[in-house]
Amino acid sequence: MNRYVGAIDQGTTSTRFMVFDHTGSVIARHQLEHEQIMPRAGWVEHNPDEIWERTRTVVKTALATADLTAADLAAIGVTNQRETTVVWNRHTGRPYYNAIVWQDTRTDRLIAALDAAGHTDLIRERTGLPPAPYFSGGKLRWILDNVEGVRADAERGDALFGTLDTWLIWNLTGGVRGGVHVTDPTNASRTMLMDLETLRWDDELLRIFDIPRAVLPAIAPSSNPAGFGTTNPDGPFKGAVPIAGVLGDQQAASVGQVCFQPGEAKNTYGTGNFLMLNTGTEIVRSNHGLITTVAYRFGDDKPVYALEGSIAVTGSAVQWLRDQLGVIAGAAQIEDLAGQVADSGGVYFVPAFSGLFAPYWRPDARGAVVGLSRYSNNAHLARATLESIAYQTRDVVEAMQRDSGVRLATLRVDGGVTMNKLAMQIQADLLGVPVSRPVVAETTALGAAYAAGLAVGVWDSTDELLANWHEDVRWFPSWSGEQRERGYRRWHKAVERTLDWAELD
Ligand SMILES: Nc1ncnc2c1ncn2[C@@H]1O[C@H](COP(=O)(O)OP(=O)(O)OP(=O)(O)O)[C@@H](O)[C@H]1O
Ligand SMILES: [Mg+2]
Repeated sequence: MNRYVGAIDQGTTSTRFMVFDHTGSVIARHQLEHEQIMPRAGWVEHNPDEIWERTRTVVKTALATADLTAADLAAIGVTNQRETTVVWNRHTGRPYYNAIVWQDTRTDRLIAALDAAGHTDLIRERTGLPPAPYFSGGKLRWILDNVEGVRADAERGDALFGTLDTWLIWNLTGGVRGGVHVTDPTNASRTMLMDLETLRWDDELLRIFDIPRAVLPAIAPSSNPAGFGTTNPDGPFKGAVPIAGVLGDQQAASVGQVCFQPGEAKNTYGTGNFLMLNTGTEIVRSNHGLITTVAYRFGDDKPVYALEGSIAVTGSAVQWLRDQLGVIAGAAQIEDLAGQVADSGGVYFVPAFSGLFAPYWRPDARGAVVGLSRYSNNAHLARATLESIAYQTRDVVEAMQRDSGVRLATLRVDGGVTMNKLAMQIQADLLGVPVSRPVVAETTALGAAYAAGLAVGVWDSTDELLANWHEDVRWFPSWSGEQRERGYRRWHKAVERTLDWAELD
């Protein structure tokens, strides 16, 4: 009997395949990293063929390890790093260019030109997004303009655009032999090309971005039994499994954290940090630097929207200490190193490697370490790194509270950095509210599985999922209000030092 639900979680640093049972417990998992290609400052790429190969391997390995077959799976869901852009040829299946990753800033001039041409207000109004290099529309335009032959193929309908969900689903459903070209509204809402109200591609935006409609995928509800096709038996599942759920990774984490009511929020700490607040079926516009996005659309129900605070660099600042500076040998070591000192010794680190995202939206910012003295050492830098994660979170929490009027009582967290107890204690201290982590911290994969399982009846309703959420740990604030505000004031001084650094003209 097919009791289980699978989820492919194609992230920025790795690809996982996980299998869950009815209680949301993990039955099988496998995970593999892929290469981060950085050809020059500000550029970040992935190889789409490598990601498809990793996906096949993690699926096959997880199934084999747990002695499962396609017949054990009622459905699978797909969740993905959002905005990362691939364009490939429908007849050969070959990408024209590497995937341009969400962190990539190469389109900063293109975005500045759109702004100069007076399109910012329209883009904001129609898509909920401030024009930024982060989103996929500019990246798609860059490939059309800079890679030979793509534009002509796109106009003929031979070139296909997709984020990673679309790329993987097309391959899983047969690729050049009838692959399904489709995405969901959460991923589409990150392109700057979709109307947030109608959930359709918008002709006026396509004209502004100069993008031929034929290149774009269909948009199907995030949870639906048939809209994403069925896995091809020649592929890694070796059988036909319905792909019944698709959500961008942050929206999936929100579903995995069972944030189904307006006012419920979660914060995910991975490569970057993403705070998401459910605003129900109402579109809430931000006046404080958050973006408005689709949280999910299940079947024929009305779409549910969210306010989001996106932070580009949090966990990846830890990786930077490891890979670029060699200050630690592994991410987990930052906890011991930072724990050697009681405070950061006045050091502030603003990891504005991709400019600053929410709530600042400053592509001209670049990273800075300030407050250094002869006394400063690696432990101070490590602690300042953990504090930077917490301060950036505080910035988006403040923005969220101002926009929504909702005062956060507890911060629900998940993601790799939340394994770091010191980081979470610092988070509670800097925020002044308790921080709570659930037992299943793999909320991204879980949310994709929920979307798929709801579509095929493994779960009857979102209410049924609430019972699967259990708290694991809770951290309480220990700082005085005075201490908290003094630190936060200095953080803003540090942020100011990073602005107006990159020259965009
Ligand atoms: N103990 C730790 N302390 C601090 N940071 C950590 C720790 N363990 C992992 N990380 C950071 O967490 C991040 C990985 O988290 P996670 O596995 O949730 O991300 P991910 O889902 O792979 O990210 P993405 O989806 O963006 O690929 C890495 O950036 C890593 O540096
Ligand atoms: Mg992830």
